[in-house]
Amino acid sequence: MRILVTGGAGFIGSNFLRLFVPKYPEHIFINLDKLTYAANLDNLIDIEKAKNYYFEQADIADYPRVQEIFKKYSPDIVVHFAAESHVDRSIVGPADFIHTNIIGTFHLLEVCREHWKDKEGKLFHHVSTDEVYGTLGKTGYFTEESRYDPSSPYSASKASSDHLVRAYYRTYGLPVKITNCSNNYGPYQFPEKLIPLMILNALEGKPLPVYGQGENVRDWLYVEDHCRAIWLVIQKGRVGETYNIGGDNQPTNLTVVQTICDILDEFVPDSPHTPHRSLIRYVTDRPGHDRRYAMDITKIRQELGWQPRHSMSEGLVKTVRWYLDNPEWVEAIRKQQDFQKWVSQNYGERRYETPQEGNR
Ligand code: NAD
Ligand code: TYD
Repeated sequence: MRILVTGGAGFIGSNFLRLFVPKYPEHIFINLDKLTYAANLDNLIDIEKAKNYYFEQADIADYPRVQEIFKKYSPDIVVHFAAESHVDRSIVGPADFIHTNIIGTFHLLEVCREHWKDKEGKLFHHVSTDEVYGTLGKTGYFTEESRYDPSSPYSASKASSDHLVRAYYRTYGLPVKITNCSNNYGPYQFPEKLIPLMILNALEGKPLPVYGQGENVRDWLYVEDHCRAIWLVIQKGRVGETYNIGGDNQPTNLTVVQTICDILDEFVPDSPHTPHRSLIRYVTDRPGHDRRYAMDITKIRQELGWQPRHSMSEGLVKTVRWYLDNPEWVEAIRKQQDFQKWVSQNYGERRYETPQEGNR
């Protein structure tokens, strides 16, 4: 099989490629990535010389360029990870999210429609998020039938792309599958998202900014478990279907941050910043902040036999260990200009000026 992976230099895409390029030498993997601020080719050092791996720098919204790549490689399968993926950035500036997540997905679908006249053995696998369903109250779970109700420009753009993918299946018979997954964490995650941001700030003795009261809940999944689920759905899932993927555990944000602090206390007991919990600060809440996500994973479990292999505590220990063991990777990101600008403009001292009521 010839597998075109979009966004393969990002967090989840690079974990996917690192897992499956060496495991399946009989398949060809082509990584199509624009290399935005969130990409990092260092994530792919382990596989960049593999004979079954190719890289093409391109924007998925650049139709002629994507056409050219399709002509060159004739992929059978597209695994579509490429996206603008950070909710806070989508609040500050939604334009890139509309460009990549909506227009980009549309162009990719169009190229597939044009090239896959014979649809036998072809598949467009769309990687999406639980955030398309909006927020849950204190109880309940999202199922594949939950109503779409996105809150942020990010989730609205992903919802839009899901609708386009489904429309191409119903209208043109394009063979598609969609997976909606909960929050991922693990090695190689860009440190603007909660878990790596907290690990790296804590190591430097910087404040750990918890939005609101830290009571929002996410359904965390270790990234390799997500990658295995995608592979399984590609192999065995039904065409035209949607599968929800989740970690089956839903701690509050505060619990996640406290657990990271406790792991660091154990791993770096001589740090001047212990106890790391003392670095926690409650900051102004994110506008439109979804209260709680929780995925019902009955469908993928019963139909395909998938379930997460990592508990949250195992996954967090592995993740903290990885960031401690990879200081060069971390340093390279810290030096990145876009990262420095984002941190200073959005995660700087300004954040701590208007603490929430009830700040502890
Ligand atoms: P990421 O931000 O780490 O990586 C995104 C990658 O896409 C980067 O390598 C970037 O260069 C590339 N990209 C962005 N715009 C592009 C464009 N126009 N053309 C080509 N490449 C482009 O994202 P991630 O966390 O790895 O997420 C991957 C996918 O999984 C996304 O579609 C996201 O919506 C979805 N998802 C993420 C999570 C999560 O917790 N991170 C959870 C569920 C679903
Ligand atoms: P994030 O990693 O940005 O993922 P998402 O918004 O897609 O769920 O955030 C995870 C949760 O952590 C979310 O409820 C927002 C919260 N959060 C903080 O409390 N502080 C932070 O500095 C960040 C980045 C997120």
